[in-house]
Amino acid sequence: MFNTLKKSVAKFALKYVPKNAIIGIGSGSTINYFIKELSKISSSIRGVVPGSIRSEKKLRKHNIPIIDLNSLEHLDIYIDSADKVNTSMEMIKGAGGALTREKIISSVAKKFICIIDKSKYVRHFDCYSFPLEVIPMALRKISEEIIKLGGMPKYRENFITDNGHCIIDIHNLYIKNSIDLEKTLNNLPGIVSVGLFCIRKADLLLVSYADQIKEIY
Ligand code: A5P
Repeated sequence: MFNTLKKSVAKFALKYVPKNAIIGIGSGSTINYFIKELSKISSSIRGVVPGSIRSEKKLRKHNIPIIDLNSLEHLDIYIDSADKVNTSMEMIKGAGGALTREKIISSVAKKFICIIDKSKYVRHFDCYSFPLEVIPMALRKISEEIIKLGGMPKYRENFITDNGHCIIDIHNLYIKNSIDLEKTLNNLPGIVSVGLFCIRKADLLLVSYADQIKEIY
């Protein structure tokens, strides 16, 4: 059922892709559906900045030009999914481990369009788990810091990010003030990026339900 909803929101998002645009995209199963849709209009866009090596490979398969972020003065639109989105348009991302590139591209984009199925739209984050991309030599130190904050760190076994780092997922941590928590974690040496996307949140949220797609600003 959720795959059908992911497909329908991916298709709907096409209307936000301007002609001749260069857009940024993220990673994951929803974005894979979006790439398929994008391939149908590929001749009308100039290219895409991908949020992961996996997305890049998929884009290449569809002959969609890949653009290096460093070659751009600005980026108008970034389209990506999330693992959870709250009613303040803040996101938890990185279940697929692509959070760092996704965070870089979204920080540059003027508009972040987040596309999700209804199961991911929640009122509060409460204790939802979220990932950190961590430099390998800092794994122990960061795990200790997470415990001090009241969370339970779990090392993601057999997983290396596109940037050659590790992932620690934080479980059982009550997310009381998401922006403060993101800032605190951002400040710990050894953390490359935090799966809380709350400082730079979504500008437009598209949520798919069985009978409609809601556009939330
Ligand atoms: C990838 O690292 C994530 O940020 C994805 O955006 C998120 O996990 C959503 O993935 P799905 O579209 O597969 O649910």
